[in-house]
Amino acid sequence: MKSLRIAGFGKSEIRFDMFDLAREAAEARRAEKLQHIYHRGQDLAWDGRDVLAELVAKHGGIKVPPDKAAALTKIFAIIMWGELAAWKISAQLADRLVPLEAKMAATSQAHDEARHFYVMHDYLAQLGPVPKTMDAASRALLDLVLNTDNLLRKLMGMQLMVEALALTLFQAVREVNAEPVLSELLRYYEKDEARHVGLGIQHLPTMMKAASAIEHAGAIGFQLRLVFWSMASLKALEPDLRVLGIEARQIMRLGKAKQLHASEMLWSEMGIERPALNRQIGAGIDAINELVFPRRDGAGSEAGWLGRIKLAREVFKAGGLPVDATTLDMPAPAIAVA
Ligand SMILES: [Fe+2]
Ligand SMILES: [Fe+2]
Repeated sequence: MKSLRIAGFGKSEIRFDMFDLAREAAEARRAEKLQHIYHRGQDLAWDGRDVLAELVAKHGGIKVPPDKAAALTKIFAIIMWGELAAWKISAQLADRLVPLEAKMAATSQAHDEARHFYVMHDYLAQLGPVPKTMDAASRALLDLVLNTDNLLRKLMGMQLMVEALALTLFQAVREVNAEPVLSELLRYYEKDEARHVGLGIQHLPTMMKAASAIEHAGAIGFQLRLVFWSMASLKALEPDLRVLGIEARQIMRLGKAKQLHASEMLWSEMGIERPALNRQIGAGIDAINELVFPRRDGAGSEAGWLGRIKLAREVFKAGGLPVDATTLDMPAPAIAVA
């Protein structure tokens, strides 16, 4: 069979049918946005070597007390290896997505993630020895997305979950100004990652329309597994985040808000108004958050497990915690890749 293929007969790996896919108007509009993501990525591509060198020179080097340096190294080693995972995942998407525009956007993402990986490596090398691995929970999270063959799950997990979590962490580290070179560097990352969320928002509706109800349910179940591993990974990082002045509880809340915000944009792309299911999932995550990352006042950790459970039930019944709209701040080219 293989020899037949080599001889030019039989099934080819080249999808000659890529232009044969019928499209509705809304889908065509989204395809245009996807193509735009690719061209924006090309226009805004930055030279990581120059940017890092300029920022280090501007701030007179990377100066940070040893305890903070250790915390930053641990947290950003996860980001660094996470960028390698994102590079691999986007390369898988670039290979496997068939429609031209989505394929272009994923290819552009792979180019960005390669830059994110080597720049983070170079940054960490200036901070001290670069860790050779990451914690088990973060690895489990990334391996789930890497190993799934289901493209809907892969795209949802990567673009909506992993990217939203990374954006939240970047925003928090920038806001506490943990280290000035890193704070400025992360601005560049955030703009790129926001385009990657855009790929999810613009292409997932097409994929979801083509998927069966069972596949939808499977994708939601997959997302919940990712939420579990994100929480476990944040729990492992809690002490290091605290050294930088960041509360893991807050990251979870903001990450969830960003993710739900992205999901709602996805629903509205599909012409569906905020479904109750989305709200319920949000409330459920907020409730679990009360258990895993209790508030640091009388209502939380000091109240013991019974107090936490009571609080979690109240939060769930209230439909989750209110979210400050400003905390959803995704960088401009983000989702509205107009
Ligand atoms: Fe990245
Ligand atoms: Fe990304």
